[in-house]
Amino acid sequence: MKVGIDLLHFATADYYLGLDTFAAEKNLDVDKFYIGIGQERMSIAPPDEDVVTLAAKAAAPILEQINSNEITAVLFATETGVDQSKSAGVFLHGLLNLSKRCRVVEFKHACYAGAAALQMATCMIRANPKEKILVIAADIAKYDVNTSAEATQGCGAVAMLITESPRIIEIEPGSGYFTDDVMDFWRPNHRTTALVDGKYSTKVYLKSLKHAWEHFTQQTGKGFDDIDYFCYHIPFTKMADKAHQALIRKAGANVTPEAFKAQTLPSQRYNRIVGNSYSASLFVSFISLLDHLEENIENKRVSFFSYGSGCVAEFFTGMMQPGYQALLMTARHQTQIAQRTALTYAQYLAFYQQAEQPKENIVYESNNRGAYRLEGIESHKRIYQSTLHE
Ligand code: CAA
Repeated sequence: MKVGIDLLHFATADYYLGLDTFAAEKNLDVDKFYIGIGQERMSIAPPDEDVVTLAAKAAAPILEQINSNEITAVLFATETGVDQSKSAGVFLHGLLNLSKRCRVVEFKHACYAGAAALQMATCMIRANPKEKILVIAADIAKYDVNTSAEATQGCGAVAMLITESPRIIEIEPGSGYFTDDVMDFWRPNHRTTALVDGKYSTKVYLKSLKHAWEHFTQQTGKGFDDIDYFCYHIPFTKMADKAHQALIRKAGANVTPEAFKAQTLPSQRYNRIVGNSYSASLFVSFISLLDHLEENIENKRVSFFSYGSGCVAEFFTGMMQPGYQALLMTARHQTQIAQRTALTYAQYLAFYQQAEQPKENIVYESNNRGAYRLEGIESHKRIYQSTLHE
């Protein structure tokens, strides 16, 4: 039985901060960002945008194409959950008017949880092929102002419909994984911003890739030459370049500079202008690959490397399905990215600080232009608005 992604779509916020603006504000050479970390822009969520509204924007175009009553589970992966008890997915379930005959749960492990939710969904469908599962990976990457991590923020959500006989990509059974209890990036419950030991985190990322790859080859018998396209978790695109170089060395592969570019650039284009989106970032990279390749990659194999600090990593693969191109939502992705509004550094800081205000009771100014927004908080309860499902 084939199981995998039948439809997928991503959403990001309506605003961005250019790293040229950022560099000017901090009196730094912009090439540190454009070349050094390989980032140009980061999407910035206004205070009335959160992972629930981003997820709703990501999922809506999928729900337009199916009978949403058929969704049997929502698996919501996020590091930026909105409640310590209630799953962000239940807020989403309400906002999207999904069937009550549905299970909803939140998955967490830093940037890894999206891959965990996808793998869990494939197992549930193998156990019961009638299931149709909505997997969400959504995050707002936020670090302290005036730290070196500030330039690697961003946000986004990816929605994936996981089914039997998928029309976009079959997720192949067998993967390689690795866990190690380390403190490279973490966010204690009392904090809204992550703490990170930046240089150390890049080293643990590469070490985890080598271990997960080794396990993957043992588990599946597949090698570097069996894979046509490579997608990585992308906190910043230079990290994915370093990861691909490390994988090539580890696998003892021979890759020309032209082939290296072809294997990495298409899957980085959205991430370069959206920024980090933690659990969503690997799947933004996959969507970027599909939206930017000129050639048809039917029956080609794509690999996925997921890395979540702390740390858990997994390497797995999928086979592209015939006819997948007709299902891509490239124009929608490109339009929303192009329509974002540029912020000055002061405007970015105002959004950043408003989102930190005490939240027992608050009504948010309307900045989020999408069909779903966080209207405010009343007696500690989040109030969402939808202009679609009323
Ligand atoms: N022109 C060209 N390149 C320049 C330059 C210039 N003017 N100035 C600096 N550079 C280069 C540097 O040489 C360096 O290159 P290498 O990495 O190849 O050595 C690169 O730009 C970065 O510069 P710095 O070494 O000065 O690094 P920094 O202090 O700015 O920190 C960072 C960079 C560690 C990524 C920091 O932004 C950070 O902590 N980010 C958050 C953590 C993170 O994203 N970690 C990634 C792995 S963990 C993970 O993947 C999970 C997750 O999502 C968080």
